[in-house]
Amino acid sequence: MAKGLFAPPTILVAGASGQTGNALVQLFDRAGFSVVGMSRAELDVASEASVQTALSAVQPDFVVNCARYPDVDRAESEGDSAHRLLVEGPINLAMACRSINATLIHLSSEYVFDGNDAPYDEQAPTAPLSLFGHYCREGELEIERILPAHIVLRVGLVFSADPRRFVANTLQTLRSHTEKRMVSDEIGTPTSVEDLGRVLVAVIRQLDLGSQAFGVYHYGGGGSASWFEMGELIYAQALQREDLPDNLLQPVRGDDVPGRAPRPKDVRLNCDRLLQNFGIKRLPWRSQMIQCVEQIYSREGDA
Ligand SMILES: NC(=O)c1ccc[n+]([C@@H]2O[C@H](COP(=O)([O-])OP(=O)(O)OC[C@H]3O[C@@H](n4cnc5c(N)ncnc54)[C@H](OP(=O)(O)O)[C@@H]3O)[C@@H](O)[C@H]2O)c1
Repeated sequence: MAKGLFAPPTILVAGASGQTGNALVQLFDRAGFSVVGMSRAELDVASEASVQTALSAVQPDFVVNCARYPDVDRAESEGDSAHRLLVEGPINLAMACRSINATLIHLSSEYVFDGNDAPYDEQAPTAPLSLFGHYCREGELEIERILPAHIVLRVGLVFSADPRRFVANTLQTLRSHTEKRMVSDEIGTPTSVEDLGRVLVAVIRQLDLGSQAFGVYHYGGGGSASWFEMGELIYAQALQREDLPDNLLQPVRGDDVPGRAPRPKDVRLNCDRLLQNFGIKRLPWRSQMIQCVEQIYSREGDA
């Protein structure tokens, strides 16, 4: 049946149990989209059959891929499983999107760069240092090859109020008066999931209205930071609310952490293309982080 003139677009979110997928489902719903979130059990991006079945059933206008390989370091020793998620996943999604005329929005990583020439725009040559970064790039290229109707959005250092992730974990460590070491010599553009949602809602609305501005884009919150600097801001916010010992956070050089895959030192992203093609401005990561800590404290207050 033809869609009505004012019918909202249908969005299928893959990886919907993760910090980004879970938040996007709620934000898309609030934006008035018709949204279906699927966990890995419902839609395994690494399985061609699972992807075909899910997309045929939902018939989405847009698919947003939030499935993520969990560990950059593990990818070095478990190349096959990383390849399945980061390369075969995008292939499966792009093929299935093509067969139903859906647009694929794929979240990729700034680890496609080597960190020697930041800030990076979308035309900058890629030069991944790790197998994880290589496969991220291969996945991007496969999408470009298979499906013209795509947005590949490279995002940096994603954070949220998710109780399982970085901000909540850092707070928990500080409250147990345990010292925490955080890498201080690798910087990027931190991005909150809410801010990422704001960006994707704006992109989807414009594509749904007929924009053809497909391709690769960068997004990160305004400013830049290392994990250590992000930790410092969380610490400062916590100290405004409760009594904690000083000096629990210690900076550490990335190269001094044993067993780590190589990572780029500076992957700040230039996000001008998103501003030029979609009119989307960056929001400072610091105000996003302050809101995120606030969210965690008010959730505890409500409990
Ligand atoms: N986190 C960052 O700093 C960062 C940086 C740059 C880019 N990104 C991109 O942002 C996106 C979301 O990241 P995130 O931090 O929200 O990740 P996350 O919290 O780790 O969530 C990832 C989700 O992917 C799901 N998943 C894993 N394998 C899957 C499969 N084969 N099929 C379907 N789903 C699968 C996981 O499900 P299970 O829980 O069932 O395993 C999990 O719910 C990813 O595309 C990632 O590449 C993240």
